[in-house]
Amino acid sequence: MLRFQDISKAYQKGKVKAVDGLDLAVKPGEIFGFLGPNGAGKTTSIKMVVGLLRQDEGKITVNGHDTHSEPLRAKESIGFVPDNPDLYDKLTGMEYINFIADVYKVSSFERRQRLERLVNMFEISGAMGDLIGSFSHGMKQKLALTAALIHEPPLLILDEPMVGLDPRSAHLFKELMNEHCRQGRTVFFSTHILDVAERLCHRVGIIKKGKLIACGTLDELRHQVGQKGSLESVFLEVTEQ
Ligand SMILES: Nc1ncnc2c1ncn2[C@@H]1O[C@H](COP(=O)(O)OP(=O)(O)OP(=O)(O)O)[C@@H](O)[C@H]1O
Ligand SMILES: [Mg+2]
Repeated sequence: MLRFQDISKAYQKGKVKAVDGLDLAVKPGEIFGFLGPNGAGKTTSIKMVVGLLRQDEGKITVNGHDTHSEPLRAKESIGFVPDNPDLYDKLTGMEYINFIADVYKVSSFERRQRLERLVNMFEISGAMGDLIGSFSHGMKQKLALTAALIHEPPLLILDEPMVGLDPRSAHLFKELMNEHCRQGRTVFFSTHILDVAERLCHRVGIIKKGKLIACGTLDELRHQVGQKGSLESVFLEVTEQ
């Protein structure tokens, strides 16, 4: 569903190597957790998938489409929630959702149905007529997830989705990620919350200094480091080496 093939990306004319030979395949129907210390290259990798950055080397395919040579076909398959939901402050919540649904050519029947369910679940239906500039951080994140799900994308990509959410909202996000995958769709997300990753993910990848240093199920990772601990203790050991 998502494939990184030998992806590298440097900033500042090659001085900062953010991603270094990343090779990774995310399977259809799985929830994949992308873990790693601050500055490891997670956001940079995600930005290359969604078309916000261009890789220096390598190839990325989404649902079989090359993000460089077939960017629109690749983007059709993606719903994306960035780490900082800077949406359009001067649009109302409803205008924003309609804009995104128009871009993805979602029929008015489908958008109404999906929207109603999501905004009720997130308890933001009363605010949809207000300017996004007046929304709290959590409300913006909920609106961003609503927009990302409005075309029921085969691949949902989230960059640190749980940051700043209250417990109930974080729970809803996790529920929706689970539901997305139960419907046969794929979730790829970055996080620092390892007990969430442990409970939610089928597989995880750990990246450090731009390189993938571990990848697999929790059991496979435990086997790799020769211990039976939690994902947290495996992570600490892998990233220390
Ligand atoms: N615009 C930029 N210009 C220069 N260097 C950058 C830029 N963006 C990121 N970097 C550097 O690239 C590396 C990877 O950053 P990235 O944001 O991808 O990490 P991350 O894994 O998402 O970290 P975090 O967990 O803190 O979100 C870091 O060394 C960072 O300082
Ligand atoms: Mg990041």
